[in-house]
Amino acid sequence: MSANPPQVLGSARTGETPPAAVVVLAAGEGTRMKSATPKVLHEISGRSLVGHVVAAARELEPEQLVVVVGHERERVSTHLGDIDPGVRTAVQHEQNGTGHAVRMALEELGAEPDGTVVVVCGDTPLLTGTTLASLAATHTADGNAVTVLTAEVPDATGYGRIVRDHASGAVTAIVEHKDASEGQLAVREINSGVFAFDGRLLADALGKVRRDNSQGEEYLTDVLGILREAGHRVGASVAGDHREIVGINNRLQLSQARALLNTRLLEQAMLAGVNVVDPASVFIDVTVTYERDAVIHPGTQLLGATHLAEGAEVGPNSRLTDTTVGRFARVDNTVADGAEVGEHSTVGPFAYLRPGTKLGAKGKIGTYVETKNATIGEGTKVPHLSYVGDATIGEYTNIGAASVFVNYDGQDKHHSTVGSHCRTGSDNMFVAPVTVGDGAYTAAGSVITKDVPAGALAVARGQQRNIDGWVARKRPGSAAAQAAQSASEGSGGES
Ligand code: UD1
Ligand code: CA
Repeated sequence: MSANPPQVLGSARTGETPPAAVVVLAAGEGTRMKSATPKVLHEISGRSLVGHVVAAARELEPEQLVVVVGHERERVSTHLGDIDPGVRTAVQHEQNGTGHAVRMALEELGAEPDGTVVVVCGDTPLLTGTTLASLAATHTADGNAVTVLTAEVPDATGYGRIVRDHASGAVTAIVEHKDASEGQLAVREINSGVFAFDGRLLADALGKVRRDNSQGEEYLTDVLGILREAGHRVGASVAGDHREIVGINNRLQLSQARALLNTRLLEQAMLAGVNVVDPASVFIDVTVTYERDAVIHPGTQLLGATHLAEGAEVGPNSRLTDTTVGRFARVDNTVADGAEVGEHSTVGPFAYLRPGTKLGAKGKIGTYVETKNATIGEGTKVPHLSYVGDATIGEYTNIGAASVFVNYDGQDKHHSTVGSHCRTGSDNMFVAPVTVGDGAYTAAGSVITKDVPAGALAVARGQQRNIDGWVARKRPGSAAAQAAQSASEGSGGES
């Protein structure tokens, strides 16, 4: 059971006809990020900025999903292919404005789109599918030619302002900040950059957009005035939460958006029954899933496809990537990547679980233990200071402290197997490939290079030899010699 709120599919939920297309604008460079990475590829909460927008757009189940790419278009296109192979890209060679960008998208689509076209910017990662669906629903219900998503913001600097008719309250135009009069600058209702259009009317109006503005660009926003003057219905839908439409232009806004999204994700988790002890120090990706009564302690990051089963407890100070933690398992001060922790198991403190680690139920990977490509059976314990790499260990076996599965001969990796109900001594080296049979014991300090039959005791170490009186002869007068002297007097014996 995943207790994440189910993803509500816009069209499925509203019963609306899905849009003919969603167009995502992502051709800009994002100079203000001051980065070698294109703006829309920066990540928050486990997804690129454009990845968040594409995921929200997918909830509408559009017939076509087109992303307009330009700056570093190969990198952006490759990324889009990785995250959503169904996405089409349209190339905008020069960034001549948002209207021009949408024109490039419609050209890519070929025929004029018959139905609704939703346009969003690639740098608004907090926008939800639910908001997009409700915009599309309003657009259809009101029979509009265009519906713009607006928001009341505390500081409208830089945004396009929504101009309304005084008497009717109808939207008459959007005026860009740089082109606005003093009166218009005082307006706090802004254009979010998200629109629903009638596809055919959009295509027609885009042909009439001019570049006679302060930036010499084709503004998508001019389409509103053009449609209105032609007698079509222009509508607006005010976003419930203005923070949802924030666009990311610089690193400060990136961190603010990350904090907002993380808060949103943790709130969902808590309302689904997860105990987040200190939300301020916990980060989770959008792809993380969980069940009720899971506990996340301070200083913990849960990344990728990590899953916490019922009652699983993680942290403090842990980073889990693509890791599954079973029911009522406990993972403390641990870094794990691509691992599976069985139910009622314990891991850490201070463990490092690398890809391919599978710990069975009621098992233990203890303190200062590193594992990789290791299957550790039910009830088996690797409690202290060990490395288990490329190994299979059966059930209810105990691996002695400070043991190493010596998997690498300098050229190739080899696999070792230890059976069930074994008791291996401390400080063992298992030189792979080697097999220890069920129920076998090994002596402390052994270097196991040969297979151990089931039930045998393997001893593989030098014999101990005591050279009596060596300290008195070789280190006369030393503290050690004096201590030895006192010991022999105390015991009353002769040495
Ligand atoms: C735009 C809107 C403004 C709105 C704001 C919301 C216009 C003319 N202005 O302004 O009303 O308040 O968004 O954030 O539409 N892009 C392209 N090709 C281009 C130009 C832009 O793909 O030629 C993309 C950018 O990569 C970005 C998006 O369009 O994802 C918005 O462009 P940006 O320059 O950030 O627009 P704003 O000036 O913020
Ligand atoms: Ca701009």
